[in-house]
Amino acid sequence: MSAPLLVVRDLVKKFPGVVALKNVNFDLRAGEVHALCGENGAGKSTLIKLLGGIYPHGSYEGELQVDGRPVTFRGIRDAEHAGISVITQEFALVGELSVAENIFLGRAPRLGWRVDWPEMHRRAAALLADFGLNIAPDAPVRTLGIGQKQLVEIVRAMDKKSRILVLDEPTAALTEQEVEVLLTHLRRLRALGTTCIYISHKLDEVFAIADRITVLRDGASITTLATHDATIPVVIKHMVGREITDLFPRKSRAVAAAPLADVLSVRGLSVAPAKGRPAFLRDLSFELRAGEVLGFGGLMGAGRTELLMHLFGAWGQRLGGEVTLRGQPYARPSPGESIRRGLVLASEDRRRYGLILAQEIGFNLSLSSLPEFTRFGGRIDTPAEQVRNQHFYTSLRVKAPGQHTRAGTLSGGNQQKVVLGKALMTGPTVIMLDEPTRGIDVGAKLEVYELINRLTAEGKAVILVSSELPELMGMSDRVIMLHEGVIGGEFARAEFSQEKLLAAAMGHAHAA
Ligand SMILES: Nc1ncnc2c1ncn2[C@@H]1O[C@H](COP(=O)(O)OP(=O)(O)OP(=O)(O)O)[C@@H](O)[C@H]1O
Ligand SMILES: [Mg+2]
Repeated sequence: MSAPLLVVRDLVKKFPGVVALKNVNFDLRAGEVHALCGENGAGKSTLIKLLGGIYPHGSYEGELQVDGRPVTFRGIRDAEHAGISVITQEFALVGELSVAENIFLGRAPRLGWRVDWPEMHRRAAALLADFGLNIAPDAPVRTLGIGQKQLVEIVRAMDKKSRILVLDEPTAALTEQEVEVLLTHLRRLRALGTTCIYISHKLDEVFAIADRITVLRDGASITTLATHDATIPVVIKHMVGREITDLFPRKSRAVAAAPLADVLSVRGLSVAPAKGRPAFLRDLSFELRAGEVLGFGGLMGAGRTELLMHLFGAWGQRLGGEVTLRGQPYARPSPGESIRRGLVLASEDRRRYGLILAQEIGFNLSLSSLPEFTRFGGRIDTPAEQVRNQHFYTSLRVKAPGQHTRAGTLSGGNQQKVVLGKALMTGPTVIMLDEPTRGIDVGAKLEVYELINRLTAEGKAVILVSSELPELMGMSDRVIMLHEGVIGGEFARAEFSQEKLLAAAMGHAHAA
């Protein structure tokens, strides 16, 4: 057994009004993949930000040691010097620069004192190809989707050849296929001697890659387990302090005797990314009924997010087809009009579309519902607003000192809950959820699922986009798989199987 490479002793980290870490002890052995697990707000990201020098020495109590010696990182550079490189949940890419420039940021290959552009592009292309990524090295990063950005960050960090690679929820935005690619690369790096700290809420993934698991709860390290003698239920129990048995609480729905009305009907819909461009979504037709959960699956880039954004009025140029919302044609969607008509979207990219991070939780919750609280003369009825905010704040169990806390200081999973709360506060009839459980811990996931059940029991209809097949199958009454902008297959609950859904996602309609 190798000596600890990194040791953390009696760590305490406080923010105004919050003790993020109250007692963390942890050691990392050279060459292992060590997972950190814990509920939203348990302190995982805070811990690795200390390790990465993002929170410098002096801003916390306790000790860090590398190779048996105490270290005092003044910033990210010091940590990188010690061989630690951290990929945080917040993206660190520069949107205006190209993929290649981002990968080699600060360490571009040079010819004399000039950047060697052809060499940089050649190397970036080789790295991307090695990862099986179909991304152009010269594409500006801002044009990439959230999953592709995540992959570019990973490629960059892996290429820096760090001794300790720290990944904070690297697969939150990846599809199952991409997760496999990433895990394969991690195993390869481990074989070459790289040590890795791996944070994820996806426990099957943790068990597939980690040698040991440390569980954090409420800012304290609870236990460290060797993966081979632990099980998922044991880890969950340490995380939440109770047992969870039914992971997907949706039972196959007893369809009401009277046929339920379609709340949303889409006929032959074709949409281009912009004027003058060819259609990307092509000839889509489907119905959504009251009380139903309609799942949409597909590989990354299949068009699921674009479809939702288009229906909501935030993406694309409609080339053909008809959309009817609650019996009325809906030809020219816009976000404001959608909300008025009871159609709402909780976006997957919470930093771009979901939240105003500098503002309070309460402000964010009521952001889409302001017309409802606006009284005669444009005055906002603050007490009414606060009561409603408090209701959603409590029922979603957002972990924060109060609804006046700024959204930007929340842990990733708690930000996601605020995005959901904001959508639900508009009192919608049709709720479109794009990856609603991304980055959410097991307990909170269950709360989201129960929320979906409550909404549909009230007769609301839900569209659920998810990259996790077990979730999609566990929570949907019907599933449509998209493949490169067209419908690759539609399945009733009784027909669900991973194989069939995947085949449809890849464009091989099942031969049944
Ligand atoms: N900059 C900050 N200011 C104030 N409070 C903060 C700040 N960063 C984190 N916190 C608080 O510290 C606690 C731990 O947060 P942290 O982000 O480490 O959780 P996490 O385990 O990574 O959760 P998640 O799984 O949701 O990402 C939370 O209560 C969070 O609100
Ligand atoms: Mg986190």
